[in-house]
Amino acid sequence: MTGATFAIAVTWTVLIVVTTTITSVVQAHLGANWGTMASHPLNPNIVVNLLEDNGIKKVKLFDSDSWTVSALAGSKIETIVGIPNDQLESLASDYNHAKDWVKENVTAHIYDGGVNIRYIAVGNEPFLTAYNGTYIKLTFPAMQNIQKALDEAGYSKKIKVTCPLNADVYESATNQPSDGQFRSDILDEMKDIVRFLSRNDAAFMVNIYPFLSLYLNSDFPVDFAFFDENGKSINDKGKKYTNVFDANFDTLVWSLKKIGLGDLKIIVGEVGWPTDGNKFATVELAKRFYDGLLKKLASKKGTPMRPNEKLEVYLFGLLDEDLKSIQPGFFERHWGLFRYDGKPKFSLDLTGKGNDKRLVAAKGVQYLEHKWCVVKNSVKDLGTISSQIDYACSMSDCTSLGYGSSCNNLNSRGNISYAYNMYFQMQDQSVEACVFGESAEIVTRNASVGSCLFPIQIDSIGQRLTPMNIVVFTATVLIGLVLSMYV
Ligand SMILES: *[C@@H]1O[C@H](CO)[C@@H](O)[C@H](O)[C@H]1NC(C)=O
Ligand SMILES: *[C@@H]1O[C@H](CO)[C@@H](O)[C@H](O)[C@H]1NC(C)=O
Ligand SMILES: *[C@@H]1O[C@H](CO)[C@@H](O)[C@H](O)[C@H]1NC(C)=O
Ligand SMILES: *[C@@H]1O[C@H](CO)[C@@H](O)[C@H](O)[C@H]1NC(C)=O
Repeated sequence: MTGATFAIAVTWTVLIVVTTTITSVVQAHLGANWGTMASHPLNPNIVVNLLEDNGIKKVKLFDSDSWTVSALAGSKIETIVGIPNDQLESLASDYNHAKDWVKENVTAHIYDGGVNIRYIAVGNEPFLTAYNGTYIKLTFPAMQNIQKALDEAGYSKKIKVTCPLNADVYESATNQPSDGQFRSDILDEMKDIVRFLSRNDAAFMVNIYPFLSLYLNSDFPVDFAFFDENGKSINDKGKKYTNVFDANFDTLVWSLKKIGLGDLKIIVGEVGWPTDGNKFATVELAKRFYDGLLKKLASKKGTPMRPNEKLEVYLFGLLDEDLKSIQPGFFERHWGLFRYDGKPKFSLDLTGKGNDKRLVAAKGVQYLEHKWCVVKNSVKDLGTISSQIDYACSMSDCTSLGYGSSCNNLNSRGNISYAYNMYFQMQDQSVEACVFGESAEIVTRNASVGSCLFPIQIDSIGQRLTPMNIVVFTATVLIGLVLSMYV
């Protein structure tokens, strides 16, 4: 090595060391929610590489599907495994089930080079008013049983139990954070849970959605949803609030204070901005929101009630999920930083330094063939087939066609073709899925129109070709061949 190359090598090393230490400040407190309600989910190994390639060191899951959790083995990524609400009843009433749950979904993953499980999220927003109180009496007993099982298994030092709650568990009649208090219908349960968390040195986990403040309230001042500090502000006992995220977080701090535990650690379990399906759900606004949020996290300023606190947040979400319920709105299927196929939607600097950095796309994704299903050119009377849209869309995902969405500017022919193609892709491009009374045809020319993407689905069958599957598949083919020789 010459003097010059040595100097360059040293400079590089210093640069790399410096950059890694700087990035780790924000990224040590930054995670992502990995939901899997997709018709064609990416292979979990691809997703784990995606997290690592983007320096995301924490992940939150909504269940503990063993295929997903196992993929995290050896990665060092801090993992929150989840328990869906529909398991709360059984876990609350049957301690043996809690023991089995911990054995199968925690203990089994902990070994040298195993999964770095740090939290168990018991239930998911179980106190939402939309659930009509179904889980109010079940959540705390389920948490207690899981905690007891963890204690018995000897993991309660390293792994904590919490419950991700929607910010609607507290409220402020005046919108001043200092008037915050827990909802009166769940006050007793909240006291039990908060004391339990404090006793076990676990964090309160809350989901905060500035997008929903804007979506649900037409009078909401738009700038207050973002972090640019150039709009309305709230003055609360000498503390100034310039964005709804801080105001919401501190409403929780005050609610905790009022039950005597104002210092309890808080983790933001979900925060994010969708990119399609509503006029406020756009790539531009999502980028504005995330840029502001990450810059805020990097500044380590905390919130007015908790200045200097390094906020720990999990972005929602990692990937788009085309099977999510659209009852709350069409935007529900477009929360991903990445599209359904792991391609980033916009540039984002996860270190919060505001550089124009591209996120790293998922590697090794296999797509179906370059084929689209569209309305035949020869079909002139579109009126007779427009009703097909409803059928095709009810069996697929047409949330990008709605008002203010990315495909809202299509003409009627484009609308029908879009619906046909979504159905065709959902059915893995099966030939029978592109008929529609002879009005449809399969084409190989990209059918996308302007900014409206006509997607090609990913090949999720091919992705499941593990060595074991290949053995089974080959054996089946061989047996088939042998049988056919005798028939
Ligand atoms: C472990 O978690 C999976 C996925 O959430 C669930 O289907 C299974 O029932 C759990 N195991 C037990 C013993 O409850
Ligand atoms: C809650 O109650 C409403 C009105 O009675 C009903 O429409 C809805 O389906 C219920 N939801 C659940 C989750 O039980
Ligand atoms: C296309 O479909 C969308 C959603 O159903 C609708 O709002 C729009 O008016 C349709 N456009 C045309 C040109 O039919
Ligand atoms: C089809 O075209 C769109 C828009 O130009 C592009 O984003 C997309 O990648 C193309 N799809 C394929 C499979 O080439």
